[in-house]
Amino acid sequence: MKQLTIIKPDDWHLHLREGIILKNIIKFSSDLFCRAIIMPNTKIPITTIDQAILYRNSIYAALPKKAKFHPLMTIYLTDNISLNDLEKGYKNNIFFAAKLYPANTTTNSSYGVKNINNIYKVFELMEKIKMPLLIHGEVNDPNVDIFDREQVFIDKELSSIIKYFPKLKIVLEHITTSYAVDFVRENNIGATITPHHLHINRNAMFFEGLNSDFYCLPVAKRESNRVSLIKAATSGEECFFLGTDSAPHLRQWKAFCGCAGIFNAPVAISSYLKIFEEENALDKFEKFASLNGPKYHNIPPNNEKITFIYEPHTIKDFIEIKDNGKVQGKIKSFHSLETLNWKLKL
Ligand code: DOR
Ligand code: ZN
Repeated sequence: MKQLTIIKPDDWHLHLREGIILKNIIKFSSDLFCRAIIMPNTKIPITTIDQAILYRNSIYAALPKKAKFHPLMTIYLTDNISLNDLEKGYKNNIFFAAKLYPANTTTNSSYGVKNINNIYKVFELMEKIKMPLLIHGEVNDPNVDIFDREQVFIDKELSSIIKYFPKLKIVLEHITTSYAVDFVRENNIGATITPHHLHINRNAMFFEGLNSDFYCLPVAKRESNRVSLIKAATSGEECFFLGTDSAPHLRQWKAFCGCAGIFNAPVAISSYLKIFEEENALDKFEKFASLNGPKYHNIPPNNEKITFIYEPHTIKDFIEIKDNGKVQGKIKSFHSLETLNWKLKL
């Protein structure tokens, strides 16, 4: 039987939500990952130490009994974020990093930063205390074409941030363009790459009618970009690492209002492995999934190992969200009803 054993990966970008969704989905991530950076875009965003502690406790409480999983919390930057909470939270290991959502660029980002110049003092402090900045890299200008928003962000915002804060540790998250791939390489920053941006291009959203299952932000771009992302992820280069951006939305909302986000937690590693296998790059997967992220963030890789076996299997169409045994809704998984080859060895 074909097997692949690697150091257990970390997910450098994950949405766990709250309440019953959190309770029903967390096992998918804790099965596959030792640590995950938890996005702070909950309904009321995580902007203070107290909120982060409560959220972290709720995550630990929702974990399956034997799980060894550590949520790395983030603070959601706003125009008026408290420098004191940010610094104290980082120094006391409450916050692992800070997340910049330019206002109104994505799900639950309305409290995000309206004018990035206004938080340059925050970047100055973060550079000084060596706190990582995680960026949703899109401009919020509705006059900019949605397919260009990442590139325009890089030119208009990210280039200046890097110029003024050259030592600030930056991760450009869920990159979607060749332009971003080149920029990351040339500017000594890090980047996460999602499974879905490795699998789909923008056609997926329009195949056989408008299909919100493949709508996420930043939106998938044209095929040439997907090809660049695959090359980057499978290259083993240290600046690129795993971040699923798994973003669950209940079916009723996704179908009704087409919210942005793709839920890939149940299939995350199988999905990446399909790409790495097709590229003959399974030998690079451990770097991408388990080594590059910790190295970029100056923390040790995990001690645990994990094994995947080659066993073609069909992915369930929906994950049920239950409360006290009663089904309250369902969430569609990425690759639903497709066959994937690699699965976790139990
Ligand atoms: O597609 C996305 N969904 N992109 C994001 O940046 C946020 C996420 C969510 O929270 O649903
Ligand atoms: Zn995200």
